[in-house]
Amino acid sequence: MQNIKAYLEEHKDEFIKELIELLKIPSVSADSAYSQDVLNTAEAMAVALQKAGCDLVEICDTKGYPIVYGEKIIDTELPTVLVYGHYDVQPPDPVDLWDSPPFEPVIRNTELHPDGAIYARGASDDKGQVYMHVKALQYMITQNSLPLNVKFMIEGEEEVGSESLSDFVKEHKEKLQNDIILISDTGMIANDIPSITTGLRGLSYVEVEVTGPNRDLHSGLYGGAIANPINILAKMIASLHDENNHITIPGFYDKVDELSLKEREAMGKAPFNIEAYKDTLDIESVYGEDGYTTNERNSIRPSLDVNGIWGGYTGEGAKTVIPSKAYAKISMRLVPHQDWHEITDLFKNHFESIAPKGVRIKVTPHHGGESYVTPINSIGYLAASKAYETTFGKTPIPKRNGGSIPIVPLFEKELGSKSILMGFGLDSNAIHSPNEHFGVWNFLKGIETIPYFYKYYAELSSGKQKD
Ligand code: BES
Ligand code: MN
Ligand code: MN
Repeated sequence: MQNIKAYLEEHKDEFIKELIELLKIPSVSADSAYSQDVLNTAEAMAVALQKAGCDLVEICDTKGYPIVYGEKIIDTELPTVLVYGHYDVQPPDPVDLWDSPPFEPVIRNTELHPDGAIYARGASDDKGQVYMHVKALQYMITQNSLPLNVKFMIEGEEEVGSESLSDFVKEHKEKLQNDIILISDTGMIANDIPSITTGLRGLSYVEVEVTGPNRDLHSGLYGGAIANPINILAKMIASLHDENNHITIPGFYDKVDELSLKEREAMGKAPFNIEAYKDTLDIESVYGEDGYTTNERNSIRPSLDVNGIWGGYTGEGAKTVIPSKAYAKISMRLVPHQDWHEITDLFKNHFESIAPKGVRIKVTPHHGGESYVTPINSIGYLAASKAYETTFGKTPIPKRNGGSIPIVPLFEKELGSKSILMGFGLDSNAIHSPNEHFGVWNFLKGIETIPYFYKYYAELSSGKQKD
């Protein structure tokens, strides 16, 4: 595989151009105004898989957005890698804060990305990372070096909970049969500190509605005499953490997997520069649960955050009004062995129980999913580790991540396979934020590294059982 570098040198401009075309299509799954664009992106993905050399490419209809499926089966006796990713993206809002329009990709050089970074919604999460796999496959097929079977499954609803995909997986277990699932939808510590994601947090996402009087009221005539839903909501939300930043919902921590000091110490060895962390966020101090480090707070500990809060008058000038309703969207990130349905129920019961008389509470669960942890002694992990060693010249560090990909634990449950999370993004890529970007170097490094995963996985698994 000596010539992957030469191959990339020859084709990189073309690959970047193709990715830019894909990033121009605004595949925002959360907003129905973009539904035709999401469908067009599925088409474009299918074309890309065809071009890469898949024998079979299908756009599989679901009750939501389609799943793009592709395969290249070279020998049914050989192991099969299933590549998963998503072609949908987060809404670009707030659009004003982008330095260039979110769906007009541009390449800019920065200190962190001297070779340039592609700025566009989805550049890193996840179109850019999916595209690395498409191009790595194309390379292996062109070179006749694909050592095992490949299936691709790229969905269009990851950012809204992967509902159709979970049905699809349950209904097509045979079709999706595989030995290992390969995903690039996470990040690594730094370009010179490769890491493999070994854990994802679970999620419970809820919306709450607080209703007071049956109509908006004059805040002079009624102020002080009735419960203002916004005041009450703010108070209720504030009470969800205590003075140690512990979550106060009864039973919330009951099943949390408490790691041993030894495990925590090992994790603490991963390089982390707290000053740089604060600098990039323009904050004077970090904040969180007492007794835990920043890296622990955002990976092995659960959290609860308000994602949005609204109600009353927010227009120009002043309007003296007590609103009838107040709302908030709240996410809870979960860790092993918290059950997301159980946590959702605990939240609902608690939130209803702390409401004072004079308001009514409605809690609506959205989506959620379980957490995930991978072993680091499996063939899949070792193959990934060797692949990074080959192309980065360093052994990657195993690292648990705070984000969620709820479909990953479902894959394990339904298909019986582990997922290997080889992400090539950086935390600074601003995924879900304005100015999302993906380093050109990272994009190319991904394409360079992925074929080695196949090579080592094929070597390590010959004659061995499935992980
Ligand atoms: N790719 C992210 C998840 C991620 C990013 C994990 C970086 C680890 C590191 C994924 O697209 C995502 O945004 N997931 C959502 C959950 C989903 C149910 C909306 C999340 O984590 O908020
Ligand atoms: Mn993603
Ligand atoms: Mn995302």
